[in-house]
Amino acid sequence: MDYHDLLARLGEGSAHPGGFSATLQLLDTLSIPAGVHILEIGCGTGRTACHLARHGCRVTAVDLHRHMLDKAVRRARKERVDVRFIQADVAALPLPDNHVDVVFIESVTIFTPWRKALSEYSRVLKPGGLLVDREMILSGRKTDLMSRKLKQFYGIRTLATVLGWKKRLREYGFSNIEVKEHSRKMGKWGVDHDPLREMDMNWLEDENVQRMSRTNDRLLMKYGKRLGYAVFTARVPSEAKHK
Ligand SMILES: C[S@@+](CC[C@H](N)C(=O)[O-])C[C@H]1O[C@@H](n2cnc3c(N)ncnc32)[C@H](O)[C@@H]1O
Repeated sequence: MDYHDLLARLGEGSAHPGGFSATLQLLDTLSIPAGVHILEIGCGTGRTACHLARHGCRVTAVDLHRHMLDKAVRRARKERVDVRFIQADVAALPLPDNHVDVVFIESVTIFTPWRKALSEYSRVLKPGGLLVDREMILSGRKTDLMSRKLKQFYGIRTLATVLGWKKRLREYGFSNIEVKEHSRKMGKWGVDHDPLREMDMNWLEDENVQRMSRTNDRLLMKYGKRLGYAVFTARVPSEAKHK
């Protein structure tokens, strides 16, 4: 069982820094109008995707993990909202170019080959489209050992500072790059009550989960002070689409 299997089995509804309340606050400030086509990448168990659909957006939601998506599909059915769920890798999105108005991401890009991910976000966005990405960031010193341990347990493939992420976004042709939220600490997540949470097991009785939870605590104790999070927004300039 890897970290994402664990999240899927626990049915975690908002596995990102700040949890669901941070998502709601962010959406408030973004004021995305109803009717826009949003692509959520790495939608997990679909809590944000369903929320967006309930508020009138046309939502396509992608995740690599079958078990996450199964839970997301059941959530959408229970909420009676229409979301198009697709099992796919962010590195090769099965979607046409210039397809969506907004790409929305919560704690996913760090687990992916970021160059391919940024290039796919840009490809599927319409000219002038909006990228919103909430990611864990590096707020202190990074060592090889730290990178190795975080990759081994969480599957984190890339860690960068706020400046590092801004540079990457610029390199991949994004403009109007803004940092909407920035915290040098990770803070808590998974604390909001999710009425539609589907847990596979009683985690208190599962040895595997307990072992992983202890490793999680140990890693956070050791490296948590060097990790924070940020929310980036950026646009795909219209000219970039005509190169
Ligand atoms: C930390 S979870 C966040 C889930 C959800 N965004 C949330 O906030 O609850 C990361 C998610 O990204 C998905 N993911 C990881 N790598 C991916 C990839 N290469 N392509 C698509 N999804 C991926 C995982 O399956 C998982 O659902």
